[in-house]
Amino acid sequence: MSIDFGSALRMFAAVVLLGGVMSVAQADDDEHEGGRRSVATNAAWQAECGECHVAFPPRLLPAASWREMMAGLDKHFGTDASLEAPVAQEIGAFLEQHASRRKIDPAAKPLLRISETRWFVREHDEVPQRVWKNPLVKSPSNCAACHTEAESGDYRERNIRMPK
Ligand code: HEC
Ligand code: HEC
Repeated sequence: MSIDFGSALRMFAAVVLLGGVMSVAQADDDEHEGGRRSVATNAAWQAECGECHVAFPPRLLPAASWREMMAGLDKHFGTDASLEAPVAQEIGAFLEQHASRRKIDPAAKPLLRISETRWFVREHDEVPQRVWKNPLVKSPSNCAACHTEAESGDYRERNIRMPK
């Protein structure tokens, strides 16, 4: 059996290239769709950003928002969530790489709350006020109160159970 190294290498390069193109396309499809497809993960992000609330999926905010949030972790929504610089850097890069690719107004101040984005408000406009006020929910940030699989980044409709 003889293997032509050159053609094996070309084939390998083609596969890698195709893989790259496919994952970009997939990330675009993923956006705001409740994680029907692959869910991006990173161990440091899961551990550090999943400590006080669910680790919010990077695709739910644009890169500019993540950048600003990571630059102000010492004043994170009234709490100190600071990290060692190398960890912050790794998490920041991960968040920006998988961020939402929706067009945003570059002049506008980046939103830091997912729950204040336009798609979030539209997607949740049928949630009754009494549900938002339910002590089991408390805050729109409390995704897991209704999205039973939020912990694993799955926001699909079939896994929603709203407290009465
Ligand atoms: C020490 C606890 C703590 C850690 C650690 C922490 N957060 Fe938070 N985070 C909070 C609190 C408190 C809020 C506000 C929740 C509320 O308003 O109900 C919040 C809110 C948020 C929100 C806004 C949610 C919304 O309303 O849409 C985002 C996004 C967020 N955090 C991202 C992160 C990321 C990214 C990390 C990791 C780098 C992180 N958090 C680590 C405590 C923390
Ligand atoms: C009070 C309950 C509740 C809370 C809290 C909540 N959601 Fe939702 N979410 C819903 C409901 C209800 C829908 C709408 C389902 C539909 O009609 O398609 C929805 C829809 C969504 C969708 C679209 C799902 C799809 O596949 O169409 C996403 C993504 C989502 N929510 C993310 C979040 C995130 C992120 C948080 C926290 C920052 C959050 N939600 C907090 C109830 C909630």
